[in-house]
Amino acid sequence: MNISIIAGARPNFMKIAPVVRAFEQRGVRPRIVHTGQHYDRQMSETFFQELNIPEPDINLEVGSGGAVWQVTEVMRRLEEDFNEHPPAVVVVVGDVNSTLAAALTAAKLSLPLAHVEAGLRSFDRTMPEESNRVVTDTLADWLFTSEPSGDANLHNEGVAPEKIHLVGNVMIDTLLAHLERAREQKVYETFGVRPKEFALLTLHRPSNVDDPERFEPILKAIHEISEQIPVIFPIHPRSRSRIAEFGFGDRKELGGFTMVEPQGYHVMLGLIDAARLVLTDSGGIQEETTVLQVPCLTIRENTERPVTIDIGSNQLVGWKTDAIVKPAKKILAAEIGPRGEVPEKWDGRAAERIVEILLRDLAPC
Ligand code: UD1
Repeated sequence: MNISIIAGARPNFMKIAPVVRAFEQRGVRPRIVHTGQHYDRQMSETFFQELNIPEPDINLEVGSGGAVWQVTEVMRRLEEDFNEHPPAVVVVVGDVNSTLAAALTAAKLSLPLAHVEAGLRSFDRTMPEESNRVVTDTLADWLFTSEPSGDANLHNEGVAPEKIHLVGNVMIDTLLAHLERAREQKVYETFGVRPKEFALLTLHRPSNVDDPERFEPILKAIHEISEQIPVIFPIHPRSRSRIAEFGFGDRKELGGFTMVEPQGYHVMLGLIDAARLVLTDSGGIQEETTVLQVPCLTIRENTERPVTIDIGSNQLVGWKTDAIVKPAKKILAAEIGPRGEVPEKWDGRAAERIVEILLRDLAPC
């Protein structure tokens, strides 16, 4: 049985790793298709090595470009691969442009489609990922959800209940499988900081970094926080370019943090785990901090992962300087920050559940 798993961008790789392994444990070696949306070593190859994901069977090498070009180019190249290796099911994960492109290609070729991490909604259509999520879910035959809000959103959109399966969170499968190794490495030492005595920052969303009117107040807030605690900032290539373009790098009041290259999986996990506080606009990091019970301030006005706020350690703070600094100082002043609880089925077994359901449903009667 040919099962095609599609991955293209950094957050996809931690999601496919446990799914590939769960298939292999059941004697099925899926075909791994890398679209090439992310191509820098530190954004892609490193993750395959660290997470022991087999080499992709093919890399479509699409690279960077406008969203319309990127989606249509992945579709064109993927159609050829699907025609050469017809899949019994196409498995897509997450919400990046490659996810949407693969979902559309599967639909146009009448191939069964499974979506891992279905149902998440920010209800913000200006966010590029939101339309990717909505369209992918409309087309999918299996919708594997990671949190109850996903099920509720899909029910409200009229998706047939028998297609929806609350399986848990595959990102957390990966986290739990690698936590011990990440902790052993004591990666914080490399950055000259001690556990629980530094803050970690990630920022890459176009809504935050492409607009100088928004990026500036965020960096001002980070500067203020960095006067109280060292801030480590592994920087996405987009954000690095914008800092240079807007001339922010020369302004002392917008600096003070330690900017480093994008980091691999174990280093990032080790840093998140050891941080006193995490500031981010990433989706996945809101989930990782929830499981690690590290206080997280999300520099956005909405989240598609409400469980991280309802029961986890996450707070939405928006992008204004004071709105970021005040809660950060409160967390830093507290003996123990808000820890929260771990959501249902974030137990390391989500991929097993997914594979169990798919193999059951695909088995010849
Ligand atoms: C993509 C995903 C986003 C995810 C993020 C994680 C979409 C719509 N967005 O955003 O959901 O959170 O990945 O990183 O799919 N670049 C490089 N090297 C690379 C890849 C990108 O330098 O390996 C630079 C290029 O200048 C490129 C820019 O980053 O134009 C943006 O890359 P792109 O894949 O379009 O989107 P991301 O912002 O990374």
